[in-house]
Amino acid sequence: MSTREDIFKNVVSHSKEYGFVFQSSEIYDGLSAVYDYGQLGAELKNNIKTYWWKSMVQMNENIVGIDSAIFMHPKIWKASGHVDGFNDPMIDNKDSKKRYRADNLLEDRITKYERDGKTQKAAELQEALDNALKSDDLSILKQLIIDHEIACPISGTRNWTDVRQFNLMFSTQFGSLAEDAEAVYLRPETAQGIFVNFLNVQKSGRMKIPFGIAQIGKAFRNEVIARQFIMRMREFEQMEMQFFVRPGTEMEWYKHWKEARLKWHLALGTPAESYRYHDHAKLAHYANAAVDIEYEFPFGFKEVEGIHSRTDFDLKQHQEFSGKKMQFFDPEINQNYIPYVIETSIGLDRMFLLTMCNAYKEEDLSEGDKTDSRVVLKFHPALAPVKATVMPLTKKDGLPEKAREIMNMLKLDFNVQYDEKDSIGKRYRRQDAIGTPFCITVDYESLENNTVTIRHRDSMQQERISIDALHGMIAENTGWAQLLR
Ligand code: GAP
Repeated sequence: MSTREDIFKNVVSHSKEYGFVFQSSEIYDGLSAVYDYGQLGAELKNNIKTYWWKSMVQMNENIVGIDSAIFMHPKIWKASGHVDGFNDPMIDNKDSKKRYRADNLLEDRITKYERDGKTQKAAELQEALDNALKSDDLSILKQLIIDHEIACPISGTRNWTDVRQFNLMFSTQFGSLAEDAEAVYLRPETAQGIFVNFLNVQKSGRMKIPFGIAQIGKAFRNEVIARQFIMRMREFEQMEMQFFVRPGTEMEWYKHWKEARLKWHLALGTPAESYRYHDHAKLAHYANAAVDIEYEFPFGFKEVEGIHSRTDFDLKQHQEFSGKKMQFFDPEINQNYIPYVIETSIGLDRMFLLTMCNAYKEEDLSEGDKTDSRVVLKFHPALAPVKATVMPLTKKDGLPEKAREIMNMLKLDFNVQYDEKDSIGKRYRRQDAIGTPFCITVDYESLENNTVTIRHRDSMQQERISIDALHGMIAENTGWAQLLR
């Protein structure tokens, strides 16, 4: 059995071996911090998106979803503050020539102190880091790195440059001729596509405040240092929702969304102790309150989702830079105002990684002298990429035909697989490794009385049920209702 330290490595290799995640451009030695989702990864990712979309858009009458373009007018990023302020503090090691995020080096040291039981030291450094980030004084960050004797993992030396700011936006050329082309940015967040469409949606949808606009889409950041697999990528996906409220009510809604979003995570059955809130000490240029929902990955607690009270900053800025009014007329109080905004922003890829880490289990099944084990992905059934696999006991005597009949009956509504290779035991293990909740075995009795054996992934228990009851049983166990109610 693996130690906690090995688990993350095993999750990464398992993701590749079973077709969840591949390094992008792998045959060309890869592209740093860019990943492709494989055949099962794409299914899992779609299921996570569906869960989010249904719970945010479908379950809330006052939230609608949009899909805005990645390219946006360059002035938008000036207005939003990203051109001037979307920076990370970076530091270089002069010997290895490697570049790091100064705050990440310190966060890693905090995690190490926590792991070593030095909780007091961890708390002190966390406070010092928060204060340094709040004050925007880069020299304090460097001093903390020196004081805590942080060495470069590559060179092992503490020969550091000063800490400098680094803008994270990618820019590219727009238009066919490079000379007169205008520079545009690849969006670093999906939120601005929502802000600039605020009036379009409000008017065309006759929305009344409070209301929300949700969106799932790609975002791009030239991360100084990309690491921990799909945790920090240069191309990634966000699921964001901007909730527009009457000024003065924002703290009520902030509290509401902070609680609602954690509930969304916990509904998946993830243990509550794997989550915690982390209040921001340094607020982004647009926020008056912000909290992260953090999950305990094998490498420590890290942010998965942010809930931000963004005031009227963005709409006000767009009003000023575009010259177009961004106001809402509130008939209840007979007033025009620029709404305040509560944002919920979750990284889809981080949620994917969380789901893999939480589901991945190495189980010892040894009994007496007989050693046995299995790797199983215990996904919530609604998220599982494959819902059921149909397995004829043998490849003859009409069993494959009967199994195909069942496949055809189920595949309209569920992602199901067919598998007739190897022993049933081996087939079960293959399905455990990809997290399939149900294995359906077709045997000779099936031909006689129209029943099959269902084997449950988590308990490994088997039961005999009628083929007529299969569809209902899978629908009930893998459907969205249990998550959304
Ligand atoms: N609109 C607000 C916003 O973008 P953020 O905290 O910078 O806020 C929101 O990002 C979420 O996006 C994070 O909680 C994280 O899950 C995800 N995220 C941010 N940068 C990422 C990256 N480089 N790779 C993967 N996910 C990332």
